[in-house]
Amino acid sequence: MTCWKDLLSPYLMGTGGLAVRDPANGELVAAVADHGPREVEAAIAAAEAAQPEWAERPAKARAAILRDWHDLILAHAEALAQLATLESGKPLAESRGEVGYAASFIEWFAEQAKRVNGEILPSPWPGKRVLVHKQPVGVTAAITPWNFPLAMITRKAGPALGAGCAMLVKPAEATPLSALALERLAHRAGVPEAVFRVLPSSAAAAVGSVLCASPVIRKLSFTGSTAVGKVLMQQAAATVTRLSLELGGSAPFIVFEDADIDAAVAGALASKYRNAGQTCVCANRFLVHHAAERAFVDRLAAAVNAMTMGHGLAPGTQIGPLIDRRAVENVHALVADALAAGATLAAGREWQADDGSFHPPVVLTGVTPHMRIAREEIFGPVAAIIRFADEAEAVAIANDTPYGLAAYVYTRDPARTWRLMDRLECGMIGFNEGIISTEIAPFGGIKESGLGREGSHHGIEEYLEMKYCLLGGMER
Ligand code: SIN
Repeated sequence: MTCWKDLLSPYLMGTGGLAVRDPANGELVAAVADHGPREVEAAIAAAEAAQPEWAERPAKARAAILRDWHDLILAHAEALAQLATLESGKPLAESRGEVGYAASFIEWFAEQAKRVNGEILPSPWPGKRVLVHKQPVGVTAAITPWNFPLAMITRKAGPALGAGCAMLVKPAEATPLSALALERLAHRAGVPEAVFRVLPSSAAAAVGSVLCASPVIRKLSFTGSTAVGKVLMQQAAATVTRLSLELGGSAPFIVFEDADIDAAVAGALASKYRNAGQTCVCANRFLVHHAAERAFVDRLAAAVNAMTMGHGLAPGTQIGPLIDRRAVENVHALVADALAAGATLAAGREWQADDGSFHPPVVLTGVTPHMRIAREEIFGPVAAIIRFADEAEAVAIANDTPYGLAAYVYTRDPARTWRLMDRLECGMIGFNEGIISTEIAPFGGIKESGLGREGSHHGIEEYLEMKYCLLGGMER
């Protein structure tokens, strides 16, 4: 079995560079080259030179390379999972799951690459033909987050490379190692070096500006905070660069009085505590009907009190560290604010200095919609329970947010299911399901949660231009 150090050997630096630290204990994991604006500009020029040849290859040839990349990812699954845990802190079992999830996007878009079909439209004129031709947008860029250091890259690179685009990736400063390992495997599979480059950098803002200002970059895909997404949108306006934005969320998790409570608790645990609550689609606000509250809270609290917190590589760990001290301080402040405003701890305890970068899993009851914890993205292992009286109130609270990414609904009433499908303002809904992500479905949000969709057969369209061609002189 290849160990992660072998996989990364060409990138590892003895001294200097970008130091990557284990969020659990602050220990140095490895150091790699730190790319500034000049190196990024050079990579853009190289990608511009290499992209046309990549685009001209038959889709089947690009697909075969993507398929080989997928196979290599799975062949190195354990090394990749260990790396993802070392640099992001997530439990190893979750990292293993992420490797499979990451690979699934490459497999999916290897298939979709072969299905980029143009159109022939019925002509309104005699002797003329109307065609829609699809072409890769050109050189693209991705700015990716630390919470899914593998999958958020492959969800963007799969469709970009499949469509015939080159892609430059600026991974999160905290998690460049998984990204570089993916790059190495992509090159080994046959993706030309200049066509797919990973550019770790500690100068996120400067690199973002270079990517947005470059007329060569025709599309930027970003996953991260709404605040940064808005900055990128402003910068991209100067070059009218196409954007995909997968931004923050404040998912409501609604438990109705007719719900299967055991299923709702299982879904809540998966949705809320996956990656210690650090996912954009995490349940952020639990809205629980008053008649279901007692049973739901008692069972959730019992499960949360039994959770094991520890290093992601330690057997049995369910809750790893948060990504850094700032993240912990933010979650702690939200919990303290809620407790001061009248919420109650139903499970877990407040963070203490000895906990370092770990935040204990918590359930809070008596939360009200105007508390900070109900209005901000928690990004930590805290379930905030808000009681509601009826469906209309639940929908009103659920939609009272600038975000619109995911929602979760537990009910056995089919008519209510259809009503909420219409009424909830979001891009994705799990009905009686706490985990919704899959490569085959369109992932993305509305309102301030973003623009565009990733994954599914729609995902590749984000990397394609449509060219309308009118063919005259076609008389029979
Ligand atoms: C995210 O948190 O941004 C992604 C979560 C997912 O793909 O499931």
